Amino acid sequence: MSATIIDSKKIGQEIRDEVKTAVDKRLERGLSAPGLATVLVGENPASKVYVRNKQKACAEVGIISFGHHLPEDATQEEVEALVRQLNADPAVNGILVQLPLPRHLDEEKVLTAIDLNKDVDGFHPINIGRLAQKGREPVFVPCTPAGSIVLLERAGAKLSGANAVVLGRSNIVGMPVALLLVKANATVTICHSRTRDLPAVVREADVLVAAIGQPEFVKKDWVKPGAIIIDVGINQVEDPSAQKGYRLVGDVAFDEVSEVAGAITPVPGGVGPMTIAMLLKNTLRAAELADQA
Ligand code: GUN
Repeated sequence: MSATIIDSKKIGQEIRDEVKTAVDKRLERGLSAPGLATVLVGENPASKVYVRNKQKACAEVGIISFGHHLPEDATQEEVEALVRQLNADPAVNGILVQLPLPRHLDEEKVLTAIDLNKDVDGFHPINIGRLAQKGREPVFVPCTPAGSIVLLERAGAKLSGANAVVLGRSNIVGMPVALLLVKANATVTICHSRTRDLPAVVREADVLVAAIGQPEFVKKDWVKPGAIIIDVGINQVEDPSAQKGYRLVGDVAFDEVSEVAGAITPVPGGVGPMTIAMLLKNTLRAAELADQA
């Protein structure tokens, strides 16, 4: 059997088109264009690329982006003061502090300073706390996890009652995606570096989300035939035949695993487009919340 390749570029584009239509309608009705403030601290090259891509995507759908770039040695007070200034700015509906922050900064304090109703990344401790609690709803859900759930649903996964295995417990992907899967009534196992007999645990998965940052870690004989797989990993591996000297691979050994999986996301091009699409969607919602305030 050969897996269906989950076309997240297409699904992401559909969501972007929906956001653009909604933004156009806002403007026709005399409402403001949604505004997203990005906060980048330091010179992390990957973070710079991510922020640039997010700003470009905003421009394409009519969301105004306000880019703020602080130096690597910015103080805790400077970063928090910027967040407070953005909280108070009515043109800013969403605030995105790109992670990771330089090590001397207290990430939790920075994220806690963001207005809950502008927390379009969903990383405020109260939003994450609500995600973890029964009967409570966060204002916003983190973008990569939310995008992963959309991809699973579009790939036909029946999450209610499914065995879902999440590889990785990061704050950005592993833990929130596991919480979302619980909310969708899956039976969820979160695996990490201390998990015993990982292949045996993965073999039980109807749905697998891999987010551990280990190149081509998940092998064909770990995968239940027909399983639906979201590969969040983006790893550089040396490849002298490639122009740049490396190529990008996921956490899953794509070629062999796609012989047994039911559906799988490719890397690159898998979850990235969804992260951005969900960010745009959250920013639009933040503007709608502000209209009602
Ligand atoms: N770093 C890696 N992914 C993300 C993300 O989705 N949001 C932010 N703010 N930082 C990240």
